[in-house]
Amino acid sequence: VSMNFAEQSTSQDPALFHVAVIMDGNGRWAGRRGLPRPAGHRAGARAVRRIVEAAPSLGISTLTLYALSSDNFNRPPTEVSALMRLFAEYLERERRPLAERGVRLQVIGRRDRLPAALRTAITRAESATAEGRALTLRLAIDYSARDEIRRAVAASVASGTAPLGTAPLGTAPLGTGAPDPFAAWPDVDLLVRTGGEQRLSDFLLWECAYAELWFTDRLWPDVTAQDLAAAVADFRRRDRRFGRISA
Ligand code: FPP
Repeated sequence: VSMNFAEQSTSQDPALFHVAVIMDGNGRWAGRRGLPRPAGHRAGARAVRRIVEAAPSLGISTLTLYALSSDNFNRPPTEVSALMRLFAEYLERERRPLAERGVRLQVIGRRDRLPAALRTAITRAESATAEGRALTLRLAIDYSARDEIRRAVAASVASGTAPLGTAPLGTAPLGTGAPDPFAAWPDVDLLVRTGGEQRLSDFLLWECAYAELWFTDRLWPDVTAQDLAAAVADFRRRDRRFGRISA
């Protein structure tokens, strides 16, 4: 059963791969310094810049970052809105540098609950970077893997087409304004989580079916290019069998 999915690799070149990151620990990083939590998120944004810059030289072709889960909406509204502003600022500021470095930016997750300013920043950044081929950077904002799967199944049933992955569906599911998920559910090769916890937290559940998992106690704002390189080196030593026996 697993073979179909195992063979559906992220890219044609096995040296290139998809890394997904759960960027945890911003709040604790701030707390330890006696700073408010948003200061931790701003430091987290600087770590995002470091990691995005390091990714292409490590062979990473797609990098998906968990910026805000749908469940994060249950945090205090002030923290959620500070994050929304930070994302918009990041996109406005980084749009050109990303385009110049050949980074294609995409946002996954639902968009209908995002502030208009952020939606605009997303659209602009996506179109300014659409030609990028050095790296695909995907930011997950208001993202829930379960919700995405649920909507895809519901859209599939409603439109009367064949289920998951077997027929292209042209339309966004149930009018959330999100892109069609069937078109863009690439397998994750390596999942990294910082901040000491070891769980998936509703991130890329389908795509992580055969992901290698790598955890570090390091808090996200402290993460460096060396940490990413260490994770990748560990990943390259792993024997990925996809349910088969060793070669
Ligand atoms: C988890 O730390 C992190 C988040 C909920 C937000 C992730 C956001 C960033 C890294 C900011 C910048 C991102 C971009 C794309 C510009 P936490 O607050 O749950 O930390 P804690 O577990 O220590 O409280």
